[in-house]
Amino acid sequence: MRVGMKQAMRIHFAAAWGALWLAAFLMTALPGLVSSAQAATLPGTATVSGTVEAAEPFKAAQVYFRNNAKRMLYMVYTVGGKYNALHLFPGEYEVSVKTKGLQSDVQKLTVTAGQAASMNLSMHASTAAEQRRSQEMKYDEIYPAGPGRVIAERTCIYCHGQNYLPGRAFDEKKWSEAIDLMLGQGNPQGAQIQPADLLPADRATLTKYLVDNFGPDAKPRSVRIEVQPPVDESILAKAQYIEYYFNVDAPGQGVNDPKYKRAGATGEMGFAAGRRMGQEPQLHPDGTVWTVDRGFPTRIVKLDPRTGVSKDILMPNPMAALHDLEIDKQGIIWVPENEGVPKTEPKLWKFDPKTEKWFESFLFDPKKVISDDTLKHPHSIAFDSKANVYVSYILGGGLSVWNRETKQMSTYILPTPNSFPYGVVVDTNDNVWIAEFHGSKLAKFDTRTKKFTEFDPPTQPALIRRLTVGSDGLTIWSGLFSAGMLVKLDQKTGKITEYKIPHQVSQPYDFTPQGKYVWFSDAGQGGTLIRFDSQTEKFDYFPAPQIADMPKIRLTKEGGIWYSPRSSRDWPGTGVLYPDATKITTLAAIPAPRGW
Ligand code: HEC
Repeated sequence: MRVGMKQAMRIHFAAAWGALWLAAFLMTALPGLVSSAQAATLPGTATVSGTVEAAEPFKAAQVYFRNNAKRMLYMVYTVGGKYNALHLFPGEYEVSVKTKGLQSDVQKLTVTAGQAASMNLSMHASTAAEQRRSQEMKYDEIYPAGPGRVIAERTCIYCHGQNYLPGRAFDEKKWSEAIDLMLGQGNPQGAQIQPADLLPADRATLTKYLVDNFGPDAKPRSVRIEVQPPVDESILAKAQYIEYYFNVDAPGQGVNDPKYKRAGATGEMGFAAGRRMGQEPQLHPDGTVWTVDRGFPTRIVKLDPRTGVSKDILMPNPMAALHDLEIDKQGIIWVPENEGVPKTEPKLWKFDPKTEKWFESFLFDPKKVISDDTLKHPHSIAFDSKANVYVSYILGGGLSVWNRETKQMSTYILPTPNSFPYGVVVDTNDNVWIAEFHGSKLAKFDTRTKKFTEFDPPTQPALIRRLTVGSDGLTIWSGLFSAGMLVKLDQKTGKITEYKIPHQVSQPYDFTPQGKYVWFSDAGQGGTLIRFDSQTEKFDYFPAPQIADMPKIRLTKEGGIWYSPRSSRDWPGTGVLYPDATKITTLAAIPAPRGW
């Protein structure tokens, strides 16, 4: 039978509709069956897929796409030796893949908007240069058991981690001086060891242990990782990281400006001197991401993830140190100076992204509740429902409250001396919760009575950095940085539950709720984001592109987790994990509404 023109068109049309309908059905009803990544990529972007082979079996290898012109990186995992990457901006890429002990050479690839590119890769054994310089040994070989070890674990290792002492080779005098410094003698940062943790009787045992095992002739060693983070390819199948790196300062500018190079040979400033250092990303309602840059000159950085373009904004006083920032409901950026100029006068600054101006500031602690003899470091910042502002002082042991109606700043001192108040969050009743880093406690500040109540996790000492409020607006989630545990505090009963994080050397840092899940960043073995299901108590691991800690994480409306790879020397900036990159409809970082 001869098919007429009109009829042919109709058949064609129907077939096209059928195909579209089928595609839509597969995407909504059976997302697992959609093998073509192309369908899910954002407009104007490209996809790359391919296979990875190696002589040895491997699981969840990390495939990297580095765009040097845009200073961006994409990373996905292999599943059964295949990978799919989405949302790549058009441009030139360096593509590589690696996993423990294996890696590929770097390949070049150029992609155009809408393209579905493919590239196959193969891995060989990592060369010696790519492996660690120091010798890896078992924990028990580096740290022989005995009373010295017990003291070292309690007073040094819990804070410095397992690889700090074996990286040093000191004689008795130098170890003794280090212990003095850590006990607070001549230390502007204050005592790092709580007096009760190093009794005079134990000091000689500790010094001898350090000299015997990390003496002048000791070789650098590090603890061999025997329990790898458990990775599950089915969880990682659609996960994708994107990192956006800070702009590089031109010669003579920014960190290369000699007037800033001098900044801070020691202490807090020394830590961040001579380089850019991203920390604490916060999400703006307009979809941009704002981060502090702790390097000198200090800046805040605005990133538009839709374009990958970032803009640097100098602090009013770029010699003041930074740590955190927050964004209020009107979209105003609030930045506490971590250390002021002069040191005794840190300020709280406001920046308007619309006018791009710093327009108001308030002096911290004007009544000098914290003595000027103590270093004052206003640190983490949070708002309550009435947009009053709360800032913890990691040095100075206090909490400042800025009252929106009176515009007055009041300061309150935490009950535990030398507690190092770190992260601050506000619950649904407008009470403030504080993580005590050295105090190893969770503290509640009742905003009506202005009284503190402290809660002790069973495992002590613990080092607690940050905390979050669960989706119910009341449950407090936090973690023991030095003990690799997640903790849950039930406000009604005051009961704290601890959950062991299932990998060797876990260091939970910051936390954010997402329904029944609690996400957290873990720096222990490098960098990873972990999702904890509070109902099944299962931990899902999403290893990060870089070896770096992530001091703050923030959730978008579409389930993206933003972070800053803080300790990264080569690639400071911000990054995001999409646990399911096929589901996102935009690269804009619209903040998730609070869960309650
Ligand atoms: C609560 C955390 C903490 C504990 C516990 C701790 N340290 Fe430290 N340590 C630090 C910090 C922070 C610094 C860097 C800033 C400073 O000097 O306080 C540091 C610096 C050091 C330094 C370098 C000093 C220098 O001159 O640069 C040595 C060595 C050291 N610690 C050894 C030890 C030893 C040994 C112990 C156990 C007896 C110990 N630390 C306990 C946090 C800690």
